[in-house]
Amino acid sequence: MKNRVILLLVFAVGIYFISTIYSNSNLKESNLPKSWKVNDEIINLKIDSLIKIMTLDEKIGQTVLLTSTRDVTGPSVNKNYERLIKEGKVGNIFNAYGAEFTKGLQKMAVENTRLGIPLLFGYDVIHGHKTIFPISLGESASFDLEAIEKSSRIAAIEASSEGLHWTFAPMIDIARDPRWGRVSEGSGEDVYYGCEVAKARIRGFQGSDLKNINTILACAKHYAAYGATQAGRDYHTVDLSDRELRTTYLPPFKAAVDQGVATFMTSFNELNGVPATGNKYLLKDILRNEWGFKGFVVTDYQSINEMVAHGIVENNKDAAELAINVGVDMDLQGEVYSKYLKELIEEGKVSEDQLNITVRRILELKYALGLFEDPYRYSNIERQEKNIMTEEHLEAARDIARKSMVLLKNNNNTMPLSKDTKIALIGSLANSERDMIGSWSGAGKHKDDPVTVLEGFIEKIGKENIFYAEGTKLNRYMRRTDASNKSGFNEAINAAKKADIIVAAMGELQSMSGEASCRTDLDLPGNQKELLVELKKLNKPIILILLNGRPLTLEWEDQEMDAILEAWFPGTMGGHAIADIVFGDAIPSGKLPVTFPRSLGQVPIYYNMKNTGRPIDPNEKVNPYKSMYLDNPNSPLYPFGYGLSYTTFQYSNLVLSNDHITNTKEIRVSVNVKNTGEYDGEEVVQLYIKDLVGSVTRPVRELKGFQKVFIEKGKTKTVEFELTGEDLKFYDINMDYVAEPGDFKLFIGCNSNATLSSEFTYQ
Ligand code: BGC
Repeated sequence: MKNRVILLLVFAVGIYFISTIYSNSNLKESNLPKSWKVNDEIINLKIDSLIKIMTLDEKIGQTVLLTSTRDVTGPSVNKNYERLIKEGKVGNIFNAYGAEFTKGLQKMAVENTRLGIPLLFGYDVIHGHKTIFPISLGESASFDLEAIEKSSRIAAIEASSEGLHWTFAPMIDIARDPRWGRVSEGSGEDVYYGCEVAKARIRGFQGSDLKNINTILACAKHYAAYGATQAGRDYHTVDLSDRELRTTYLPPFKAAVDQGVATFMTSFNELNGVPATGNKYLLKDILRNEWGFKGFVVTDYQSINEMVAHGIVENNKDAAELAINVGVDMDLQGEVYSKYLKELIEEGKVSEDQLNITVRRILELKYALGLFEDPYRYSNIERQEKNIMTEEHLEAARDIARKSMVLLKNNNNTMPLSKDTKIALIGSLANSERDMIGSWSGAGKHKDDPVTVLEGFIEKIGKENIFYAEGTKLNRYMRRTDASNKSGFNEAINAAKKADIIVAAMGELQSMSGEASCRTDLDLPGNQKELLVELKKLNKPIILILLNGRPLTLEWEDQEMDAILEAWFPGTMGGHAIADIVFGDAIPSGKLPVTFPRSLGQVPIYYNMKNTGRPIDPNEKVNPYKSMYLDNPNSPLYPFGYGLSYTTFQYSNLVLSNDHITNTKEIRVSVNVKNTGEYDGEEVVQLYIKDLVGSVTRPVRELKGFQKVFIEKGKTKTVEFELTGEDLKFYDINMDYVAEPGDFKLFIGCNSNATLSSEFTYQ
């Protein structure tokens, strides 16, 4: 290796002198964003030199990303990937982790190929690597950006210790259709919040300097509008107006670019007739030209090839041509760049300059990570042993799991329970390690590591106080109507008879949400509800703990259960975190980042919709010829931003520093929040605005700020916000992003139905 590096350096110096004479302006243009904190000049020079000595095959190799067989996350694998590494035909590997394993693969590239260019190792480190945090939707319910950043930081520390350089995260698709299984992977329905979460996660993964050994490249995915898939069916068609695309689906991606995200992943869907992976408007016009993104773009799993099925090209070769020419740099497992790029260049359909730009983007990041200095720096067994699942990481996972849980109902203060309560714990999910960590659970072990609800309860109150029964069994393809098997009911009912209170841990299997896990029914699947109906007959209080990855329809449960705690898939320490909340060692503080409908028929339903020309009057019983349903109210069961605590908060004294904003003058908003209950607790104070009249219609309200504050019982805190002209901008009638003069309303409170309000104008 040493000889190879020396040879490369000698070459580089020689080429430097040549390159100063024949400098290629295209290659010089691409500079790294400041946040990557690398010395542009020197790197540019080295990369110029390297590209000049690379053969076409070597360049193409850098555009190829193949899966190892260690883990498989899609429909195809090339078992010959090791041979291809040695031949220099693949420059990047995913689904490979572990210091020893990655070191072995890296050696193959460094020692066998002519130039010894190091491999880049990528993986889906979505909500933790080995220490698994709550699913992203759950974490987002914490409304705690510091905690979210910390969880990504810890994931990066663990992943980088196992040889990984790159995560395929954050997933920042705004999602408003709970049928879509991938709602679980994002931060919910809101644009403002989605941008904040995206930035926090990128800061966490990439840290302040990619040269640091514990940072990894982040990847903004899936670009773009994947969450707007028709009928909530995965991979389905997306057709959106440009206004809706730019207003709702693109902002988190723009925020990611501004935060210095290193890479982008294209999405599977088509957008307005053109698949995202071949979409010039998205990839060239917006991402590169408008936003100035300088990193590289990778495809989703074979999404170049899928353009044939989409019907936009005839064959894989044409698909490769389309993708590279719109600026897709890396082919994830599609093996079409490796197969066709050379031919396409020889035929003049793709220019070698285009390929050089692509290769440069990839090499830049390999340099930024320090891989050319030491290709093995991430694969370090000692670091791996020291950094994986440390006490500190596990404690952080438990903490954010607690913060992410949302108390949906708590009649007569059913919770917290006293620790001498006799409990019947019912439900197969209560004793399922695999389901605790949710889908896309990185390299998290499916057995032994995850703490189940049963284990968490036993540790908290002792085995003797718990009567556990499975009651129901779930399977992935189950519908609610598959309710005939009641064989476990008796055991559950007998357990419940012995107890003071029933705790039912129910919801979805982890495999019921996530990729390719869409549902046409949002009720509790299988016969879980039927079992609850039977348990209810015992006239004992029932607490429902929900483990699930999407909004569910819970009207009946909301009426009949005494308390409901939304715990999502809470991660490795989930069982402990749930027990902490149920028994009052922690106070719930999560809020819903996504609306929970009353029934599936209301979907899509989200808080910041438009008023329509015929809004209903909430004070009228009958609203003929109004925008409404006959059989259900328009309102959701639980609105965006909703979540209870064991304590209560009262809002008062809303004061605005001024009655108008100009483009040079902001408004400061303050409100007093008093903890009026019996416990110290945290509240998410939320600020919404409504633009009363616009050149295009405006949403009924929009979140523009939030703060999570800790308030001791009996104490009051003054919470302050600042609103500027920037917060009032939107795409006007001419698609210009501006704030329009006029009147605004402002609301502050504990969820998106906040009523404490004031007014201001923009001048
Ligand atoms: C998913 C991506 C993921 C990729 C690699 C795809 O099927 O859509 O989110 O990053 O596989 O595992």
